[in-house]
Amino acid sequence: MALTLQHAMQPRLTTEDVARGRFVSGLRRFVLNDLAHDMRRAYDSRIAPAFEKANGRPPETSAEVHSAMRGDFAFNVYSSCRVQAQKMVWSAVRPVVARERGTIESAAAKVENGTSVSLDPDLAAPRNVSALDVHLMPGGYMGNPDYPLEAGAVYDQGLAIFSMGLMGRNLDDIGLSMAGYIRHAFPDFRPLSILDVGCTIGHNTLPWKRTYPEAEVHAIDVSAPGLAYGAARASMQGAEIHFHQMDAERLGFADQSFDIVFSSMFLHEVSKKTRAAFFREAHRVLRPGGLLLNMELPPNSQMGAFEGFYLDWDCYYNKEPYYKGFRDEDPRDLCTSGGFDPDKFLQFVVPSVGIYGEEAVRAAAQADHHDVNRETTGRLAEGVQWFGFGAWKGN
Ligand SMILES: C[S@@+](CC[C@H](N)C(=O)[O-])C[C@H]1O[C@@H](n2cnc3c(N)ncnc32)[C@H](O)[C@@H]1O
Repeated sequence: MALTLQHAMQPRLTTEDVARGRFVSGLRRFVLNDLAHDMRRAYDSRIAPAFEKANGRPPETSAEVHSAMRGDFAFNVYSSCRVQAQKMVWSAVRPVVARERGTIESAAAKVENGTSVSLDPDLAAPRNVSALDVHLMPGGYMGNPDYPLEAGAVYDQGLAIFSMGLMGRNLDDIGLSMAGYIRHAFPDFRPLSILDVGCTIGHNTLPWKRTYPEAEVHAIDVSAPGLAYGAARASMQGAEIHFHQMDAERLGFADQSFDIVFSSMFLHEVSKKTRAAFFREAHRVLRPGGLLLNMELPPNSQMGAFEGFYLDWDCYYNKEPYYKGFRDEDPRDLCTSGGFDPDKFLQFVVPSVGIYGEEAVRAAAQADHHDVNRETTGRLAEGVQWFGFGAWKGN
């Protein structure tokens, strides 16, 4: 169900706001569970058999499944309902964020508890951020220049509805699950400096500070509105995080500055060129023995054609133009082309700590095999599990 965030930047919600949020979350839950199952049944019972009859083999790729599905009733119902529900996420929260502007701005004026934010007015946002209403979010991450905190607040409130409670009480489930996995899998690894790249409002940065309290934690993004809002959000939760406005292609940190470079849901929103530059930068700023870790959508090469099609849907209908290009890349190749040793590659699937609990995260960290090709991997629906990959920097 729709989530009311538990942190102190949470604006006051009226009964109508809460009801609207619950309705939109409920609609998304219906689409992503029930209608998705109907679409799968349609695929198994009529679409795949018809394809096989015509081609002498079943569909083999995500693209083949997509072209076979187009025009089918179940696909059309799923797609149109999902697009409408996505638009409703943002239209449900924008009036709240407009109405609560005074509260949000006065809360954001107090960045304390050791948290800092440094903005760079000369940094031009890349076009994937400045010219794209990514995932149908009006104004994208830059929002409205006359109300600089709006984009961060809309993202926070919108994600709470979008996530249907599956991303944790403060939208931090990915960070908590990933950091928990690393702590359990590598108990002797004691990172003292951590960088989160493409942090938006820092919701998945905070768990790193919580998991490794002795570490100095930095977070970067190109979006000033997200960072300004995120710094206040972190400070009001008592987390000491240092936010910087920077481009992942050119990190303003010295060589060998960090023990962990983390990103979450970042790589699929940037171009191939930015991705490649980021992997080189991550390698440069990591210390020997440090870890690059990306939480992301799982790759097409490790999934069945239908599961791949299901995730690639966003590329065509949800203004996520880089989604499929990223999912078609090989995670190990991405790391090695950034300078990492292929033998130092790692990947895993970690159960959401909020859904499955800490013991399940510990068990995953101790398992020697992870099956990526499951309906629950990377799918924001019942039973979600997160995919992670990266590499250690050699000594
Ligand atoms: C989907 S959001 C990431 C969300 C967040 N990390 C999480 O865990 O949910 C992608 C973020 O990447 C940022 N971004 C896009 N291109 C970037 C670049 N070249 N350098 C730094 N940040 C970038 C966007 O501004 C946006 O905040």
